[in-house]
Amino acid sequence: MASRGSMTCSLQLAVLVSAAIALGFGVRAGEAQLSSEYYGQTCPVVHRVARRVLKKAHEADVRIYASLTRLHFHDCFVQGCDGSILLDNSSSIVSEKFATPNNNSARGYPVVDAVKAALEEACPGVVSCADILAIAAKISVELSGGPRWRVPLGRRDGTTANITAANNLPSPFDNLTTLQQKFGAVGLDDTDLVALSGAHTFGRVQCQFVTARLYNFSGTNRPDPTLDRGYRAFLSLRCPRAGNASALNDLDPTTPDTFDNNYYTNIEARRGTLQSDQELLSTPGAPTAPIVGRFAASQKEFFRSFARSMVNMGNIQVLTGSQGEIRKNCRMVNGS
Ligand code: HEM
Ligand SMILES: *[C@@H]1O[C@H](CO)[C@@H](O)[C@H](O)[C@H]1NC(C)=O
Ligand SMILES: *[C@@H]1O[C@H](CO)[C@@H](O)[C@H](O)[C@H]1NC(C)=O
Ligand SMILES: *[C@@H]1O[C@H](CO)[C@@H](O)[C@H](O)[C@H]1NC(C)=O
Ligand SMILES: *[C@@H]1O[C@H](CO)[C@@H](O)[C@H](O)[C@H]1NC(C)=O
Ligand SMILES: *[C@@H]1O[C@H](CO)[C@@H](O)[C@H](O)[C@H]1NC(C)=O
Ligand SMILES: *[C@@H]1O[C@H](CO)[C@@H](O)[C@H](O)[C@H]1NC(C)=O
Repeated sequence: MASRGSMTCSLQLAVLVSAAIALGFGVRAGEAQLSSEYYGQTCPVVHRVARRVLKKAHEADVRIYASLTRLHFHDCFVQGCDGSILLDNSSSIVSEKFATPNNNSARGYPVVDAVKAALEEACPGVVSCADILAIAAKISVELSGGPRWRVPLGRRDGTTANITAANNLPSPFDNLTTLQQKFGAVGLDDTDLVALSGAHTFGRVQCQFVTARLYNFSGTNRPDPTLDRGYRAFLSLRCPRAGNASALNDLDPTTPDTFDNNYYTNIEARRGTLQSDQELLSTPGAPTAPIVGRFAASQKEFFRSFARSMVNMGNIQVLTGSQGEIRKNCRMVNGS
């Protein structure tokens, strides 16, 4: 039994530490509670197991690394990184999977299930679905040629979903001010916005998100004036006016599946694919423009910032300690 004295002492320490956090000694919400060593004793194979499953999935689907990276983003921006995007419809859940930004767009759920199943085999009841998304994003970026970082872990899974919040995810048609507001609302700044948008260095995009820029930008019946003519001609062939809205193109046509800084050099050549990409540079007076310039000029600087911003994003409103639960199945709240 711990002596009263030492208990008081650790209590005082805890109070001091929480006060320090509350005073914001350079610590963002939740940050102090996650640790890259979280599963060091309880599931030391977590990275190895996840990596094996992801590599296997990639053999059948080269796009999967991009899709998984996006899932972590769509999870974290909706009531924090709590695995809420993974929940299916049920009597208590209105699934976020059917929100406009996710429906027929977010993908990779079966691969998350496969990672979860492998981890339930290796370390039953230990690794949360929210952490699986963070780990999958980290491994995906690394295996695509991007930066490596130590991913903070220890998130717990939520027991709710919020389709209203999911419908409010950043849209490719949002202007820069709105994008800044949506990132700001979860504690992310302009550098985070520009760095994380760099994830559009890999993966695919459906024609429905680019056609307005080709033919009828903001209802003007004209193309987006910030779009390079050559790239517009290229995209117009692939996304004709009354063509297949679901047809896919590369977000980064130069190196479609490689994680590099070409996203920014594309933007400098007025070849950003989404309106929301090009705006980072082309909005008059954009405070984000010099950041695009820095990342275009230095892949090293982009990589360093991307890793830091992924950690920032992964810290959004996390559940820790006894909050939430460790789901047995990422699609369902336990006991439902
Ligand atoms: C800045 C606001 C953002 C907007 C408006 C946005 C929008 C989009 C859109 C419209 C697509 C294409 C979806 C489709 O065609 O089905 C897409 C794809 C993608 N996004 Fe974003 N995104 C943003 C930020 C991010 C962030 C922060 C990340 C990750 C850190 C990310 C990672 C990706 C990836 C990897 C893809 C390709 C997914 C795949 O091929 O399955 N995006 N995004
Ligand atoms: C899930 O519920 C939503 C909202 O009620 C509905 O739009 C969607 O079609 C449902 N999906 C499935 C697969 O049942
Ligand atoms: C989701 O997409 C399906 C087509 O796959 C469509 O039938 C359904 O109406 C969409 N759901 C919502 C809520 O928009
Ligand atoms: C769901 O998200 C919306 C929009 O962010 C918010 O206004 C609402 O309070 C949330 N609902 C719950 C039950 O948390
Ligand atoms: C950005 O979009 C919002 C919402 O549509 C709008 O209210 C605002 O005026 C726009 N801002 C600029 C600078 O265009
Ligand atoms: C262009 O967009 C505007 C507003 O979104 C719409 O009212 C108009 O019908 C569109 N024009 C064409 C030719 O589709
Ligand atoms: C439209 O494109 C999607 C994605 O490539 C494809 O699955 C679908 O079959 C196409 N639809 C038609 C009508 O060609």
